[in-house]
Amino acid sequence: MSKLPVRLLCGPGPSDVAPSVLEVLSRPILGHLDPAFLALAEEVKTMLRTVFQTANETTFAVSGTGSAGMECALVNVIEPGDDVVVGVAGLFGLRLAEIARRCGGAVRTIEVEFGKPIPVERLIQALPAKVLAVVHAETSTGMRQSLEGLGDACRETGTLLVVDAVTSLGGIPLSVDEAGIDVCYSGTQKCLSVPPGLAPITFSDAALEGVRRRGTPVRSWYLDVGLLTQYWGEERTYHHTAPTGMIAALHEGLRLVLDEGLEARWQRHQTLGGELQIALAEMGFRFLAEAGHRLPQLSATFLPDKIGDERVKRRRLLDDFGIEVGAGFGPLSGKGWRIGLMGESCRPDKLARLVDGIRAVVS
Ligand SMILES: Cc1ncc(COP(=O)(O)O)c(C=O)c1O
Repeated sequence: MSKLPVRLLCGPGPSDVAPSVLEVLSRPILGHLDPAFLALAEEVKTMLRTVFQTANETTFAVSGTGSAGMECALVNVIEPGDDVVVGVAGLFGLRLAEIARRCGGAVRTIEVEFGKPIPVERLIQALPAKVLAVVHAETSTGMRQSLEGLGDACRETGTLLVVDAVTSLGGIPLSVDEAGIDVCYSGTQKCLSVPPGLAPITFSDAALEGVRRRGTPVRSWYLDVGLLTQYWGEERTYHHTAPTGMIAALHEGLRLVLDEGLEARWQRHQTLGGELQIALAEMGFRFLAEAGHRLPQLSATFLPDKIGDERVKRRRLLDDFGIEVGAGFGPLSGKGWRIGLMGESCRPDKLARLVDGIRAVVS
């Protein structure tokens, strides 16, 4: 195989991976029922509970990327004909709605212009429903969605709250139990800085009770939480071959997160993301997300005027500076970039390199 380049990953994911996580990935693989591996997997569950800030027993990692987490969340809580409300403020809200429909849900969407947050009152007014699903950090627009009051409103109306935390977990404050979230999922490749391939997920007792009371089997065998917990729970029996190398890598990634401390990690993203946004504004970039609702870890930007073809500039950043940023989506398509500063990519020296590289290609 020809030698692959080393990049600085500043797109919407994946982000850079710490050397100690890469080292774990190079170790010999263990069997998925090896007692040594099962002990490590137990620690992963405990660490995920801390990172999600939940006491939920059913907390584990789905084998698959963030979209597998999304499907796992929805396919378990939705039965054909169920009333489902989905907040749509970007690509990932649209994906939630699409998957909810494929699960047989009767989907009502609450939509806003991309870049704007969804007013929580509009979501609350749409209740009761069987399920309310929203994206916490909308990676397509760089918008941070408030979850304030949603948990209480869902509990009062007997609605299950599903939250996409793919881009938020480990990057901005999120407490699953305090927010009253019933099912929350993430991805390993963003602010957790582990390669793509696993989707951490957690289910509340109310969500599991709903799954137990289903009149129809879960439509996906692979993502059926009842079957998955036969492996991740006490029985530890075979369901599918767990990706042991990736779970070991996640263990190391979570160890780094917890060593740093969640508060410190959120603050690092807030500080360096804020500095990046100041530097971008000085260079003439504009932001899609409304001020006050911007994610520090993902800036969705319009390029400065008269810059020319964004693809040429983005390619130059990659070829000449070894820096990856992401293409724009929706209103940003062909006009802007999505610039991530997540996990291991979110370091002062890397921020300086990123800003220098962007300045060189846009000036
Ligand atoms: C908010 C959000 N949800 C879901 C996904 C889907 O994750 P994946 O691409 O890992 O399947 C992404 C990926 O970028 C995302 O940003």
